Amino acid sequence: MLLIGNWKMNLSPAAASSYAGELRSALMQTKSTDVWVTPSTLALTVVADTLRGSPIQVGAQNSHWENSGAFTGETSLSALQEIGVTFVLAGHSERRVLFNESDALIAQRVKGALAAGMTSVLCVGENEGERVAEATNRVLEKQLSSVLQEVVGVDTKKLVIAYEPVWAIGTGKVATIAEIQAAHQYIQSVVASHGITEPVKVLYGGSVNPDNFGEIGAIPEVDGALVGGASLKLEQWMKLVSIAEES
Ligand code: PGA
Repeated sequence: MLLIGNWKMNLSPAAASSYAGELRSALMQTKSTDVWVTPSTLALTVVADTLRGSPIQVGAQNSHWENSGAFTGETSLSALQEIGVTFVLAGHSERRVLFNESDALIAQRVKGALAAGMTSVLCVGENEGERVAEATNRVLEKQLSSVLQEVVGVDTKKLVIAYEPVWAIGTGKVATIAEIQAAHQYIQSVVASHGITEPVKVLYGGSVNPDNFGEIGAIPEVDGALVGGASLKLEQWMKLVSIAEES
């Protein structure tokens, strides 16, 4: 199981470093669970320093595909690698909706990260209107294919996909077990249709908490979770880790 805590634009560098220290002490001995965190950009260096040598991997919430250049406000992959960052998120719905990131731009971010040898966590998911209109598969197919057609010839062993229905993010609403299972199966079928034969992990994200994760984590197609709110509270996060260890 893979659990990724997405800290979003929360925790200052000092607060993130102290929280990372607590996680480090609490999580030295996970058995079957990989625990990763994505602090905000400014906190990456201190968190990577705090977690160096621990099993917890540190990722960035966003990254450019070039190593340097005239890209005001963007973050370089080689700079991220230099400070110990091993993975990056791409296509989170907050980037898509609030910052107008297109499928084409997201494809560049994923391709750049994979080509640099980093893990890329591609987030996909339908919004509420699309779910109601029964357009979920169409949306997933479009979001996935726009990326997968760009990574032909690139090593996709380090590609991870997170299925995050937009209507479930930060809302307390969770997709049903049947909805999650169907979406994960569909995602795997789209991945296979692009000729990717290595197994690709598919995580669920959207209001995951200790009360619902037992059931969600038990779905055979679910390889882990991308967690926002509940990853910021040590007690809840540790509960999620122990549920993951049991499933
Ligand atoms: P949430 O966020 O767990 O707070 O719903 C998930 C995410 O945005 O990745």
